[in-house]
Amino acid sequence: MMQRLFTWKKLLSGLVVVMAFAGIAMAAPQGSKIATVTIPPAPDQYASEPQPLTASQCGQCHVGPFNNLKDDGGRHRFACQKCHNVFHAYNPRKQNWDAIMPKCASCHQKPHGAKITDCAACHTNPHAPKKIGSTSQLAIACFDCHAPVREELLKFPSKHTKLACTVCHTSHGYIPSCLTCHKPHTPGQPLASCKACHPVHRPLQITYGKDVPSATCGACHSKVFNVWQHGTSKHKNVACVACHKDKHRFVPQCTSCHGKPHQQVIHDKFPRCLTCHIDVHDLPVMPSQKK
Ligand code: HEC
Ligand code: HEC
Ligand code: HEC
Ligand code: HEC
Ligand code: HEC
Ligand code: HEC
Ligand code: HEC
Ligand code: HEC
Ligand code: HEC
Ligand code: HEC
Ligand code: HEC
Ligand code: HEC
Repeated sequence: MMQRLFTWKKLLSGLVVVMAFAGIAMAAPQGSKIATVTIPPAPDQYASEPQPLTASQCGQCHVGPFNNLKDDGGRHRFACQKCHNVFHAYNPRKQNWDAIMPKCASCHQKPHGAKITDCAACHTNPHAPKKIGSTSQLAIACFDCHAPVREELLKFPSKHTKLACTVCHTSHGYIPSCLTCHKPHTPGQPLASCKACHPVHRPLQITYGKDVPSATCGACHSKVFNVWQHGTSKHKNVACVACHKDKHRFVPQCTSCHGKPHQQVIHDKFPRCLTCHIDVHDLPVMPSQKK
């Protein structure tokens, strides 16, 4: 082993000696050569001042920050150096990372008031400033920015009042579908209709328009629905919501549509129309009128 190493060393030093002689032999005729290698000068490369790197040039190495800014940077899509006025200066020995990183406060005041300070707690990526992380700090702060929604939930107590905002809004600005948590009343009932009857932050304040199909009401009021559907009077052509207008549980007066059709003495004697007409959903009609 020792033997072999020794031979290699000898061989190598011999080679260096041979090469050095060859170099001298070649350089000797010119006489003026001062370097051991030949590199042609390129002064043209120094003719102009260096230009600051553009965002896409920084992006050649920093693909992540560049793509974040490109896709979600919003109004932060300006030159990197506007924020990074110092960069490539991190030194682990100096522990200077925080010191050289851009500060929100150098360009922004406190846009959400004095209470909300730790910007990075919600704006987790400065290169995608509008992408708000689903952090615990955000969950605590919903009320600071959306006070009216909370007031609405408290003013009209329902089971939604007891849910945390983030049970439904799983990320900032995300709007959930009612159907992820609830079944519709009737098969195929469209999602848009849910919100038309149930304002989500006060779901029991139920109001509706003139075009709700009677089958929707029938989903819960099957007894009335059946009686009404199989009735023989002209009320069978009057939709539930034509009488029970606008607001759930509203009950109409007969006189709002019919006035007082009989002689006054009859109305005085029998103030309740249904004393004679019995069932509003299935008015008895003369046998001759039955179809
Ligand atoms: C070099 C200055 C500068 C720094 C540093 C800076 N911003 Fe901005 N930021 C701006 C400017 C300029 C705008 C656009 C304002 C406008 O158009 O009115 C902006 C806009 C924003 C927006 C709105 C983005 C949009 O597309 O609507 C958010 C959010 C934001 N900044 C958060 C931050 C946070 C958080 C920090 C710290 C991590 C930060 N900024 C650091 C200059 C800066
Ligand atoms: C609005 C200001 C702003 C702009 C514009 C901006 N940055 Fe940043 N950048 C920051 C802040 C703030 C941090 C510190 C984040 C931290 O502390 O983790 C950061 C961190 C970084 C880091 C180190 C952490 C990491 O994510 O890898 C790199 C690299 C970086 N930026 C590159 C860029 C490049 C490249 C551009 C332009 C294409 C750019 N930045 C534009 C504010 C900015
Ligand atoms: C030729 C590749 C290259 C280019 C171009 C480049 N960087 Fe870097 N940069 C690096 C490397 C390598 C590091 C150190 C390793 C790391 O943090 O990824 C770094 C680190 C950083 C950091 C974090 C550490 C520190 O010391 O600041 C920031 C911020 C940064 N670069 C910003 C920029 C900005 C802004 C530009 C354009 C003006 C840019 N870089 C251009 C290669 C590059
Ligand atoms: C509790 C979470 C939270 C904190 C902490 C926070 N923000 Fe915001 N910020 C938001 C939310 C949510 C938005 C609205 C985003 C949207 O419009 O979709 C926002 C929007 C912004 C906007 C855009 C305003 C506009 O009118 O377009 C700026 C600028 C901003 N924040 C800067 C800051 C700065 C600077 C700090 C630190 C002082 C900070 N934020 C701290 C949650 C936060
Ligand atoms: C720092 C203030 C701030 C905080 C904290 C905040 N928001 Fe927002 N939020 C905003 C702003 C600003 C908008 C945009 C409003 C707009 O576009 O009219 C917004 C939009 C929304 C939207 C979308 C509205 C729409 O019409 O699409 C929802 C949902 C929402 N926030 C829910 C929440 C919930 C839930 C929380 C707590 C987990 C929260 N926000 C915390 C400021 C905030
Ligand atoms: C049961 C689920 C649920 C809960 C709990 C809930 N939301 Fe909503 N929120 C929704 C739905 C669904 C919408 C969309 C309503 C629409 O499109 O009419 C919405 C809309 C919003 C909007 C935008 C429209 C508006 O009314 O301003 C904001 C802001 C908002 N919610 C904030 C909150 C906050 C803050 C809380 C907690 C205090 C909360 N939400 C609790 C489901 C919920
Ligand atoms: C993330 C799940 C979730 C979403 C999304 C959601 N809800 Fe609810 N909702 C609930 C829970 C949980 C209850 C309570 C159920 C119980 O205790 O039986 C409830 C109760 C209700 C109630 C009865 C309230 C009461 O006090 O009796 C109505 C009405 C309702 N939801 C309608 C809606 C409508 C309409 C939407 C869409 C705009 C919606 N919900 C979206 C979870 C949700
Ligand atoms: C025409 C109006 C109307 C429409 C459309 C409607 N609802 Fe309702 N919903 C009601 C009424 C009325 C109640 C009963 C309220 C009460 O108990 O006082 C109710 C009750 C509920 C309840 C409470 C639990 C239960 O079944 O009694 C939930 C949950 C609910 N609706 C979800 C939905 C969803 C999801 C949709 C859309 C697919 C929807 N609703 C569409 C009128 C409507
Ligand atoms: C999700 C089930 C549900 C749906 C859908 C529903 N209701 Fe109801 N409705 C109820 C409940 C529960 C009550 C209360 C019953 C009680 O108190 O005995 C009620 C009560 C009523 C009352 C009685 C008011 C009173 O004082 O006696 C009327 C009228 C009524 N509903 C009409 C309608 C109409 C019209 C529709 C369709 C637009 C409808 N309902 C849809 C569940 C529903
Ligand atoms: C022509 C008008 C009219 C139409 C159409 C109508 N209702 Fe009624 N409804 C009334 C009146 C008036 C009362 C009160 C009856 C009383 O005082 O006994 C009532 C009572 C009710 C009640 C509570 C008492 C009971 O019988 O349970 C419910 C529930 C109800 N209607 C549901 C419906 C539904 C569902 C439909 C459609 C299938 C419907 N109504 C169609 C006028 C109408
Ligand atoms: C929303 C309006 C409305 C209300 C409220 C209403 N009706 Fe009617 N009613 C009608 C219409 C529409 C007709 C059919 C008229 C026609 O075609 O000539 C009708 C027809 C009738 C008829 C004739 C039936 C037939 O088949 O010939 C009687 C009787 C009657 N209503 C009684 C009542 C009584 C009693 C009440 C209260 C308990 C009442 N109505 C409430 C709209 C209403
Ligand atoms: C004393 C019993 C009685 C009372 C009370 C009564 N009605 Fe009648 N009503 C009748 C009779 C009987 C008829 C005739 C039936 C027929 O002609 O087919 C009738 C017919 C009607 C008709 C159909 C008229 C037509 O021209 O087709 C309407 C509408 C009507 N009543 C509405 C009402 C209203 C509204 C009230 C309450 C304000 C009321 N009635 C109270 C007994 C009564």
